[in-house]
Amino acid sequence: MVWGRANVIIGNGSDNILDLITRCFVSDPGAGHTVPSYSLYPVVAGMSGQGLVDVNFDRSMQLDVEALAATQAKVFFLTNPNAPTGVAFPIEQIEAALKAIDGLLVVDEAYVDFGADSAVSLLKEYENLVVVRTFSKSYSLAGMRVGFALAAAPIISMLDRVRDAYNLDRVAQAAAQAAFEDVEHFEAQRQKVMATREATRAQLDAYDWFTYPSAANFLFTEPKNAAGESGSEVAASLFEYLKSQRVLVRYFSSHPLTCSFIRVSVGTDAEMKVFLTAVESWLNNA
Ligand SMILES: Cc1ncc(COP(=O)(O)O)c(C=O)c1O
Repeated sequence: MVWGRANVIIGNGSDNILDLITRCFVSDPGAGHTVPSYSLYPVVAGMSGQGLVDVNFDRSMQLDVEALAATQAKVFFLTNPNAPTGVAFPIEQIEAALKAIDGLLVVDEAYVDFGADSAVSLLKEYENLVVVRTFSKSYSLAGMRVGFALAAAPIISMLDRVRDAYNLDRVAQAAAQAAFEDVEHFEAQRQKVMATREATRAQLDAYDWFTYPSAANFLFTEPKNAAGESGSEVAASLFEYLKSQRVLVRYFSSHPLTCSFIRVSVGTDAEMKVFLTAVESWLNNA
């Protein structure tokens, strides 16, 4: 099979592509996804009047390929590395999933450039694979709204038929092309984010907080207060304190696997210092 333009579609952010995939290919029993993962999958499924089929993680956050296949979903959304944990799934598991399922496996690689293996190498062999990427994270162009998908030509052709006629403006196209061609800048930024992430992680380890190994541009960490306690009240207290100090992190209160954690995006070294200083003062005042 020859690969080229027929295997790519570009959209108004990868959210647009995820919506197109849902509209084209999801049907009974609904869109498959892991819990927790990216919160947009339930939204796009809901917009299309489709249900959801959950594959629940346990605290290890490891992928259960058999459970994924057992959903019999026509489309399964797999975020790799996962959000909000940052945990990456090995390429062998992705390949095992592709073999085990009948439907499409959509690997959402929004954060892949920060340390995970891409499934792109599997595209030529597996016609049920769709890889979705974005310029919003590792290319720092979130406001430009550029995402794309790579897949076998019949899948791309179907998505192309339902997209808005002008789903990507020219300024965004120019910015994305320039970002894509500036390999040196991309590489430097990516390395910087990963180095800052690991330096921040070392600080969290020093507090003896449990943090998932992250292949993304954020850390999912379980804070302990000065008395060494963790749990949803502790995480909520830190979240509120940080907010009062104008340091914004994410807190996912509604799920037992996430409610004792906060998700911290990796910013500049200076921003991470502000975050860690605020954590210190929370520890000292709690
Ligand atoms: C896992 C995941 N996929 C896709 C997106 C959407 O990115 P975009 O800005 O390209 O719509 C996000 C954004 O937060 C995300 O976390």
